[in-house]
Amino acid sequence: MKKGVNSLKIRVFTDSRIAVAYAAAIVEHVVEAEHHPTLSLATGETPSALYAQLVEFHRRGLSFTDVTTVNLDEYVGLPKTHAQSYHQYMQEHFFQWIDISKDRIFIPNGYVNNLQNECERYDRILQQHPIDLQILGIGINGHIGFNEPGTAFKPTTHIVGLSEETIRSNARFFNSLNDVPKQAITMGLQPIMQSKQILLMAFGEQKAQAVHLALEGDVQTHVPASILQIHPNVTFILDEAVAKACKLNL
Ligand code: GLP
Repeated sequence: MKKGVNSLKIRVFTDSRIAVAYAAAIVEHVVEAEHHPTLSLATGETPSALYAQLVEFHRRGLSFTDVTTVNLDEYVGLPKTHAQSYHQYMQEHFFQWIDISKDRIFIPNGYVNNLQNECERYDRILQQHPIDLQILGIGINGHIGFNEPGTAFKPTTHIVGLSEETIRSNARFFNSLNDVPKQAITMGLQPIMQSKQILLMAFGEQKAQAVHLALEGDVQTHVPASILQIHPNVTFILDEAVAKACKLNL
């Protein structure tokens, strides 16, 4: 068993398909083992294959009726029905295909007049639903959720101005760079760090620098994912492309 920094585990798979199957098996274990599990879910390209795998597990008998989900983040200014909203993403990739009850699904709403109230509402939800398993991707600048690099780690749900790097990176999902929202609402680092278990998935060499800094650099606010180094139960699930490109010393 390979261990990384402190107790952090690193699992490298030849390709992302196998990595995703590994992650999905861990999700299934948590869903089956916990009485009323809370999963905290990420969006983006990386976890989409994980949701497809879990939908497949559901078709083979895995039930989500006892599961509560909270999502990490949402764009500010996109209605829930917008094709690129994370509400829509979750519906399309996961929720519409499984037997989860609608009233157990929680996603921050970035399409409200009073964003501060929404942050406080979401924090109350997170307090009521401590996270059993946190699924994370990583931004090319080391962000988790939309906790962007900055001058301080923010513990609670907050509104964030997206960095130019993030806007450029997420432009691949929109018609043009101008269409990418400039702000998002994101879970803060406290509920993430209080999760019982965290899986961070990163595939492809474009994530190499972020993964390298998160794993092997200091814990620093300029690389939000580096805070995971001090979590007691976190696994980085990588493909060979990212592991080789960041020259992981495994
Ligand atoms: C997005 C999300 C993150 C995600 C990251 C990487 O902006 N807010 O939760 O992990 O960027 O996304 P991708 O997997 O598409 O590279």
